[in-house]
Amino acid sequence: MADLTRELTIVAFSGSLRAASYNTALLREAASLLPAGVTLTLESYRDLPLFDPDLGEVAAVEALKSKVRGADGVLIATPEYNYGVPGPLKNMLDWLSRPGYRSVFAQKPVGVLSAAPSAVGGARAQVQLKGTLDALVAQVFPYPDVAIGQVDQRIEAGHITSDATREVMREYLAAFAAWVAGARQATAR
Ligand code: FNR
Repeated sequence: MADLTRELTIVAFSGSLRAASYNTALLREAASLLPAGVTLTLESYRDLPLFDPDLGEVAAVEALKSKVRGADGVLIATPEYNYGVPGPLKNMLDWLSRPGYRSVFAQKPVGVLSAAPSAVGGARAQVQLKGTLDALVAQVFPYPDVAIGQVDQRIEAGHITSDATREVMREYLAAFAAWVAGARQATAR
């Protein structure tokens, strides 16, 4: 039986590996915009090898699997690269997707955000990413897409400088946390 009084835990992944990533900044900011009682931990997948099932059990993959397994929900913020999901993020999802349909992502509540300096805000990657999460039989947060365009004018030096963006994020995160809490309660029954 799940302990429903403990803090809600969210594991976060950025679709970008670069140090000054807007998407990583968004997730760092999210940690302080979430409602009380929710902790968000940003996890790195930088050290995973390229996906190759012949490698068998990989320690870094197993470590990440156990973090996702232990979390109540997952939040991903990603840019789009060439109209698609960045390769390193897709690589991580492919690793964690095994065994198929019974992976740590199966039935896991997952929220998806995207951000880019362009007007479309990574929306095309977001659509692709949600399709991949469907293949993992994850539960994808049903919410109007949050694709933050012109993000270079909304985040500076790693901090959200736009009040409108901060409010969009706060609303999204409150709804996401409530939905993840509901999912936890439903599985505890
Ligand atoms: C991009 N960028 C980009 N932007 C976009 O809106 N649509 C796209 O298809 C692409 N494609 C693309 C490919 C590659 C290889 C790079 C390096 C960049 C721009 C991208 O959105 C921008 O660099 C973001 O700032 C990357 O996100 P982070 O690293 O700031 O989170």
